Amino acid sequence: MTQTATSMSTDAQTQIADALNQCVAETAVTTMMAQNFHWNVTGMAFGPLHDLFQKIYEDHFVAQDDLAERVKALDAHAEGTLAGMLKRSKVTEKDGHMSAEEMIKALKEAQETLAATLAGAGELAAEHGDTLTEDLCIARGQEHEKFAWFLRAHLR
Ligand SMILES: [Fe+2]
Repeated sequence: MTQTATSMSTDAQTQIADALNQCVAETAVTTMMAQNFHWNVTGMAFGPLHDLFQKIYEDHFVAQDDLAERVKALDAHAEGTLAGMLKRSKVTEKDGHMSAEEMIKALKEAQETLAATLAGAGELAAEHGDTLTEDLCIARGQEHEKFAWFLRAHLR
């Protein structure tokens, strides 16, 4: 049965919010990664990569807020600390002392991890009949798979 944020059981809200907080965390860690690479990328492809990394972190910055605000709509606590995000995130930080190719690979892997995390969160939401969270997760997952393709295309 289709559910809305306030018609769900507290247990369902908590489970979905927890999955969404992992999405928030991984989105935030990847935002920082893309900004780090935007600053530190070098080489003959500096211009387009500097721009692409900016496009990615600007997209992710907006998405963090959309995901965290869905957590709030579910009446749960939104993860709001960097330490907490690093703990939850399956995307790990990179220090930025890397070649342009290593940056592209690291960011591509982060996009793939995020797509998988969002697909999982969407599936969980669907199991609870929460089609509105599911929709947000699907839209975000598709965006990450698009960025994974943008990055992968540099490596062929
Ligand atoms: Fe900049």
